[in-house]
Amino acid sequence: MKRTSRISDLRNIITEEKKRGRKIAFVPTMGFLHHGHLTLIDKAKETGAFLVVSIFVNPLQFGPNEDLTRYPRDIERDALLVEAAGVDILFHPTVEEMYPEKMVTFVEVGELDEMLCGANRPGHFRGVATVVNKLFNIVQPDMAFFGQKDYQQYLIIKRMVTDLNLPIQICPVPIVREDDGLAMSSRNVFLNPEQRQEALVLSKSLNEAERSIQMGQKSAREVEEQIKKSITLKSQGVIDYVEVRDASDLTEVTDIKRPVLIALAVKFGTTRLIDNKVVEVKRDV
Ligand code: PAJ
Repeated sequence: MKRTSRISDLRNIITEEKKRGRKIAFVPTMGFLHHGHLTLIDKAKETGAFLVVSIFVNPLQFGPNEDLTRYPRDIERDALLVEAAGVDILFHPTVEEMYPEKMVTFVEVGELDEMLCGANRPGHFRGVATVVNKLFNIVQPDMAFFGQKDYQQYLIIKRMVTDLNLPIQICPVPIVREDDGLAMSSRNVFLNPEQRQEALVLSKSLNEAERSIQMGQKSAREVEEQIKKSITLKSQGVIDYVEVRDASDLTEVTDIKRPVLIALAVKFGTTRLIDNKVVEVKRDV
């Protein structure tokens, strides 16, 4: 496996591969890789394309009081994991390489940035969209893989690619979970054993909500209340949001008639976890 922190090196290698007629598949990450990331990499590998993985903890998407400095990092361990996964090149630029000057140009995300994870993290998705756009321009992939764990991020990137006519196929990958249901996340290492146990309430309450919708529950507000009640009753988690939204464009939903996204963010101590579920709705007969 090749490995570089230089944009110019990466560009040269990709130009060569493209000349040989190879397609390029890309998996952007912030590192501290777990099985969720590795599943994205496996899916990308299946395409047979030249496979690029990036690891970059992007300062632009962290707010001033967020966990940029304590975000977990272990580049050597990550390099071994991606090499074993059959990645062709690992790109791990420094902050100076990605942002040599103060940025003045950004990708604005509009209303998709004002809800769910965007509401309490102003500028977060602008930072995500901007860095992903930069990475797309550097890597020039044919396909890029995003996890549905970050469903809002996935939709925002899909929308950016449409709105800005980027010739890139965005490939979604379902959420990868621990055996007990907890959605895998680089931040799970911060949970103490008690919080780790309590955090199971997230996936459990999403499953319960899915069942109740499938049994005929049509009220989005009632579904939200049911989940909030479960979380408050069974854990000390502090709810940031629990929302039922249209799964295709995240618009507000009152009556559940089409596929919905149930999304939540809950803080356990200082660790903020997110999880979600897309629920299909049986048609009325
Ligand atoms: P990061 O949190 O490292 O995630 C990288 C990719 O892995 C994202 O597409 C994310 O949705 C996916 N992923 C993480 N955990 C997952 C899980 N349990 N199941 C499925 N997919 C999972 O998301 C980012 O980094 C950054 O915002 C980035 C896009 C790299 C821009 O900086």
